[in-house]
Amino acid sequence: MKKEAKTIIDKARREGRKVLMENESKDLCLLYGIPATKAYVAKTLDEAVEISKKIGFPLVMKILSPDIIHKSDVGGVILNITSVEEVIEAYRKVISNAKKYVPNARIIGVTIQKQAPKGLEVIVGCIKDPNFGHVLMFGLGGIFVEVIKDVSFRIAPVNENEAREMINEIKAKPLLYGYRGHEKVDIDTIVDIITKVSEMVGEIKEIEQIDLNPIFVYSHGAKVVDARIILE
Ligand SMILES: Nc1ncnc2c1ncn2[C@@H]1O[C@H](COP(=O)(O)OP(=O)(O)OP(=O)(O)O)[C@@H](O)[C@H]1O
Ligand SMILES: [Mg+2]
Repeated sequence: MKKEAKTIIDKARREGRKVLMENESKDLCLLYGIPATKAYVAKTLDEAVEISKKIGFPLVMKILSPDIIHKSDVGGVILNITSVEEVIEAYRKVISNAKKYVPNARIIGVTIQKQAPKGLEVIVGCIKDPNFGHVLMFGLGGIFVEVIKDVSFRIAPVNENEAREMINEIKAKPLLYGYRGHEKVDIDTIVDIITKVSEMVGEIKEIEQIDLNPIFVYSHGAKVVDARIILE
């Protein structure tokens, strides 16, 4: 396992956490070459302002707490922040929402990240099955996964060809290849993300679950905008 990966996992273990926070989950992704919007940690308003100036606008601010898994459910995600004034306003809002909705949550601060342009939303996931070991999942985001359950699975590890098969198996496949004026998305980048997730779970055996949801896919490239990794 990569040294930096071990550092992230050891820290979570020491703190008695199985669910890695967004910044940690994305740092693991980035270590394995998976394109994600890096989530920078700001523990104070001053830090938030300083980081924002470095990142540039537009940006996204999210609550950072080991006790809050679904950040948007508690008003903990603010998109389209375009100025320092808005950063200050968003920081106060995100922290006060978290305190209001989850009174006992330990709040570390917020994360700040670049706002990625909208793309076609896909999901890459992984679960550890007691019989099959790590199983990879691919699907389109939103209702396609939640309502229609239009997803494909493969037992890890997968090579490029198997990753491509996973993508081509879903019913909504035409949406990926340019449907009614929509641009064809970068299939090779999705293949790359799936094989890199496969590589990650091959190396980090104690991963119980990965959710890269959503991933915005473009005609060139892709960005993971939310990630969650759970340990055994
Ligand atoms: N960096 C970003 N750039 C652009 N859009 C983003 C970014 N981060 C989040 N979003 C948008 O905001 C939505 C909510 O953010 P996020 O998924 O992090 O919140 P969440 O509460 O963890 O959601 P869930 O409970 O579904 O996991 C995302 O689905 C995405 O549409
Ligand atoms: Mg999410």
